[in-house]
Formats: sequence, structure tokens, C-alpha cells
Amino acid sequence: MRIMILGANGQLGSDLVKVLAGDHDLLPLTHQDVDICEPVGLRAVLRRHQPEMVLNMAAYHRVDDCEANAGRTFAVNALAVGDLALACREVGSALCHISTDYVFDGQKGSAYVETDLPKPINVYGVSKLAGEHFVCYLMDRYFIVRTSGLFGVAGSSGKGGNFVELMLRLAREGRDIRVVDDQVLSPTFTVDLARQIKALIETEAYGLYHATSHGACSWYDFTRQIFNLARLSPSLAPQTTAESGAKATRPAHSELANAALQTIALDLMRPWQEGLAAYMEARKAVHGEEG
Ligand SMILES: NC(=O)c1ccc[n+]([C@@H]2O[C@H](COP(=O)([O-])OP(=O)(O)OC[C@H]3O[C@@H](n4cnc5c(N)ncnc54)[C@H](OP(=O)(O)O)[C@@H]3O)[C@@H](O)[C@H]2O)c1
Repeated sequence: MRIMILGANGQLGSDLVKVLAGDHDLLPLTHQDVDICEPVGLRAVLRRHQPEMVLNMAAYHRVDDCEANAGRTFAVNALAVGDLALACREVGSALCHISTDYVFDGQKGSAYVETDLPKPINVYGVSKLAGEHFVCYLMDRYFIVRTSGLFGVAGSSGKGGNFVELMLRLAREGRDIRVVDDQVLSPTFTVDLARQIKALIETEAYGLYHATSHGACSWYDFTRQIFNLARLSPSLAPQTTAESGAKATRPAHSELANAALQTIALDLMRPWQEGLAAYMEARKAVHGEEG
């Protein structure tokens, strides 16, 4: 397939480039190459390259900052996605768009499946749900993939390093670390997700999918496992969401079940502990054994 990747140097984008290279004809584009918020330029790029599949990894996802920047949040995560869907339709391309567990309010108390009703509780979640709606309203041949708590060796450019790297840095600096233990999620290694997306887009089983690691944990338990694997023993203690003082409200339990992938016998994901261990190995190539 001729595949265009938008946001190709982000955490997930860069692993997708590696996983897809060899089997597909790739056109990886960074934010510098094309801004998805500029519909004229975006349309011109699609017309010029005539992709058969567009993978949209571009997003504004600094969840707390989104609260005070609703305009930019909706421009990137919703309106640009609508323009992209229209442009894909015009050139006859399918679209794979990435969404989030934050479309849910976290009150279900167990893993969400694709048929559960979304009810976002922060600006970021509302904007991502609006982006999803544009895609399904405007297109027939689409994949929407909701995922959660991404970590990859490219770091999250928009967030200035991913959560794992932040925790390792704080430990190295000898800080007292406090992490919330009342928010549960399914943290996901971007290489695992990239492989899952590759398998999915090579089918024609279009639709909405949840794709996260299996199992779930609190951010606090996730952090403990990071330090176990890194053989570090920093000062680490749990705190409540209320104590954390974060600007955005977050879902208490946003675990996702990969139910639609299981229905088509295509769930390739593994337990989050295994994904984290694989990440800790992979990061050594970038940061070294002690990094
Ligand atoms: N990170 C998570 O924990 C998480 C959880 C659930 C869902 N998701 C979703 O997963 C997807 C990928 O996330 P990620 O962690 O891989 O993000 P990331 O590392 O921040 O990558 C996003 C990429 O998009 C680019 N981008 C931002 N605005 C753009 C624009 N207007 N036009 C073109 N490119 C633009 C960024 O470039 P610049 O940095 O140069 O702007 C960056 O290369 C996103 O849709 C996100 O909402 C992420």
C-alpha cells in the first residue's frame, strides 16, 4: 500500500514508520512538512501523493494545557481531522485515526468496550470524540483506534518526554515522587501498538477499535513496575487525584478491552507488564544501560 503518515516523528508515528517500512511504500510527514490545520496545504499534499491509506498520528494532547486552549485543541484534534477526512475521500484514500481512552468518563468501573457510550470529562476528550465523529460521519473506509497511556522510545514530542522517562529522570535527580493511585489505565508500548495497527490496516475490517495492552493498573502501580525493572528505589508514595492538583479532570478507570479486535481474531496486544519490559530494553539502545 502507498501509506502517508502524518505526525511521523512522534512516539507512535516513528514506530509505525519502522514497523511498516519494507512491506509498504511509505510517505512519512512531520509537522514541519505539513500542518494538518492548514486544509489547503493538506489537500495539496494528498492530491500530489495519492495515498491509498493515511495514518493520522498528529494531535494536541497536553491534557492539562488543553483546558485553557480549547481553540487550538479543537483545531488540531477535531476540525483538522474533519478536513483530513474530506481530503482522503476526495483522493479515494482510507484513513486510520488514533483516539483515546479519555473519550470515557471512567465511571463504568471495568474495561470499556467499543459499544460503550463515550462521555468525555475534559476538553481533550471532547475534542478527540469530535474528531472521531467527523471521521465516521464523512468516511466509509476508516479505522479509528482508541488507545491509552502511550510510551515509546521517541518520547512524546508534544509532552516533552513520556511518563516513563519523566519518572526515571525524577528518580535520578533524587526527588520525592508522588503519583496518583486512583486513576486506572492500560499503559501501552508504541511498538506493540504499531504492530497491531499494521495488522489491522492490512485488512478491510473498517470501523472502531480499542487497542491497548492487556490488563490495567494505576499510575502509581505502573511507576512501581518502572522502578522495579530499572532496579531503582527512589522515594515514591501514592497520592490522590485531588491532591495532585491537575487542571483537567481525568477518568478514574479508563481501561479499554480490545473487544472488536478479538471478534475478528486480530488482538495481538500483550500484558502491559511485558510491553513495559520490552520498552525498558528498547530504551537502552538510546539511553545506554545506566540511562
Ligand atoms: N500519548 C498518549 O499517552 C496517548 C494516549 C492515548 C491516545 N493518544 C493519541 O495517540 C496519538 C499519537 O500520540 P503520540 O503520543 O505518539 O503523540 P506525539 O509523540 O506527541 O506525536 C504527535 C505528532 O503530531 C505532530 N503534530 C502535532 N500537531 C500537528 C499539526 N497541527 N500538524 C501536523 N503534525 C502535528 C507532532 O509534531 P510536533 O511535536 O513537531 O508538533 C508529533 O510529531 C495521538 O492521536 C494521541 O491523541 C496518545
